[in-house]
Amino acid sequence: MIPFKTLSQFIAEKQSDFPYAKGELSRLLRDIALAGKLVSREVNKAGITDILGDANTDNVQGEKQKKLDLFANEQFIQAFKRGGDVAMIVSEENEHEIVLDNDLAMDANYTVAMDPLDGSSNIDVNAAVGTIFSIYRRISHINEKPTVEDILQPGTEQVAAGYIIYGTSTMLVYTTGKGVNGFTLDPSIGEFCLSHPNMSIPENGQIYSVNEGNYIYFPQGVKDYIKYCQMYDPSTKRPYNSRYAGSMIADIHRSMLKGGIFLYPSSWDHKEGKIRLMYECNPLSFIVEQAGGKASTGYRRVLDIQPDKIHQRITIIIGSKNMVEKVEEFMHKYKEINL
Ligand code: AHG
Ligand code: MN
Ligand code: MN
Repeated sequence: MIPFKTLSQFIAEKQSDFPYAKGELSRLLRDIALAGKLVSREVNKAGITDILGDANTDNVQGEKQKKLDLFANEQFIQAFKRGGDVAMIVSEENEHEIVLDNDLAMDANYTVAMDPLDGSSNIDVNAAVGTIFSIYRRISHINEKPTVEDILQPGTEQVAAGYIIYGTSTMLVYTTGKGVNGFTLDPSIGEFCLSHPNMSIPENGQIYSVNEGNYIYFPQGVKDYIKYCQMYDPSTKRPYNSRYAGSMIADIHRSMLKGGIFLYPSSWDHKEGKIRLMYECNPLSFIVEQAGGKASTGYRRVLDIQPDKIHQRITIIIGSKNMVEKVEEFMHKYKEINL
């Protein structure tokens, strides 16, 4: 007998949670897992193949694209094209939404927003990177050409979301709104195996993750919170530890397991925040909330925001519930000043 449950077995079992589902979402999740395995394979041999370094191109946000950014983007787009369940894709690496209008996609029900490779600056130094995805049901009728409105939906409308972290092992973590489960890739059999059932994020933590190089440009409420984290108080186990990976996937995955908070506030060069709503904030907020945590801009719930453009950026504060609420408390003191 196999001593663990594979992702495919788990997905098949969970399909009964959605009485009207015809298996498309299950197929889509399996397509994502397959593309994730291909990216994982490439990441693991990155030092010995010609996949490290810059692709010598910029994305629409003016950021340098890495070869692995483009490779991962291509793997996921191809998986969605071949699978036939996706009508439209939004990717960090593509300026415009991609409409899939091949025969297979004619009756596709879903739209996907993705960050094919999160933490690109970590690629060349052998640190953790990841993939983030968010799945919506399209609003337009099948057989109609989808429009951008099919994807510009608030995070509360996500039908599933997840991330794949390519770290010391490769893990896929996802939710369909009924809790969060994590699967570790066993490379010897090429299967994601259920390793972290019913993940729940501790209500408190002792680790904060923020790019402190931007400290002097942060809103006063965030500055005050950082000072609070650093202050000695044994009753709340302070001072906290500071850890910042340069890849929010790595920081948030740590928070999921050990408790903690990730902040990307507005700063000098990113007045509205840096992290993208559609394919970074929304999927991770859905997962963190499903695990019992919280995600906020400091003033409102991330998942309630109605996006107005596909590459929209926001301020995000995400992680253990009590830690996020503490930041909100500090930020509210300066609400009038910030508005
Ligand atoms: P990406 O590599 O997909 O562009 O995302 C990087 C994001 C996030 O994952 C990370 O925490 C943050 O940008 C790092 O930004 P700074 O270098 O400005 O701290
Ligand atoms: Mn990213
Ligand atoms: Mn990216």
